[in-house]
Amino acid sequence: MALSFGSRRPMLSPSILNADFSRLGAIVQELEQAGADAVHLDVMDGRFVPNISFGIPVVAAVRRSTHLPLDVHLMVVEPERYLSQFAEAGATLLTIHVEATVHLHRTVSAIKELGLLAGVALNPATPLAAIEEILPFVDLVLVMTVNPGFGGQTLIPAVLKKVERLRRAIDDAGLSCLISVDGGIKLSNLESVLRAGADVIVTGSALFDNHSPPGSLLRLFRERLDAVVARGRPPSGQ
Ligand code: DX5
Ligand code: ZN
Repeated sequence: MALSFGSRRPMLSPSILNADFSRLGAIVQELEQAGADAVHLDVMDGRFVPNISFGIPVVAAVRRSTHLPLDVHLMVVEPERYLSQFAEAGATLLTIHVEATVHLHRTVSAIKELGLLAGVALNPATPLAAIEEILPFVDLVLVMTVNPGFGGQTLIPAVLKKVERLRRAIDDAGLSCLISVDGGIKLSNLESVLRAGADVIVTGSALFDNHSPPGSLLRLFRERLDAVVARGRPPSGQ
């Protein structure tokens, strides 16, 4: 099972961080029915970020609820200690923070050796230079558009310039790795992140507003996304 590489159609990877966990299986199935391309799972350790969310058993439970790829975002220090456990739990993609591991190439290689896709994530203040050397080895770069740790924050607009520069770097180098954007993405700013060059849209609290079912909100994202793509996305974030 893989995220659909090669397709330039942007993907939606809903984050269940703000979901009602007592209904998690049903919510994941609703998101799948509504056209989600993956499920984004935010693992927080209370050290790398000032919050604790959930861990390996929840990833395994979501694996039992859906056939979708599991896009696991590890906001934990020393993620290399847990890679095989997340693989066994059914992760498809493991994204680690460049700020959280000392030997980035070794950790990315270990993810690939487990047969998983490997992603690297950058906090808003981390420059692209931090991933220049690892870029050819990864399947995805996750650009944090908020400081990680909590759902429901406001997107930092300045980070979109970083997304544009990353888009150009990937395209100029002829690489196929995807750009994911994560944090504060709503219907109102979806077009700007797409135009900056994002391939994977992570959205959390916008789907869980307690007024409308998450599936119907996800469908609105898909409609807006398809409308932007139909109008054409300029190459390299121009
Ligand atoms: C934040 C997480 C995000 C979060 C997104 O640290 O990485 O994935 O769940 O939630 P919203 O869309 O509410 O910012
Ligand atoms: Zn995330």
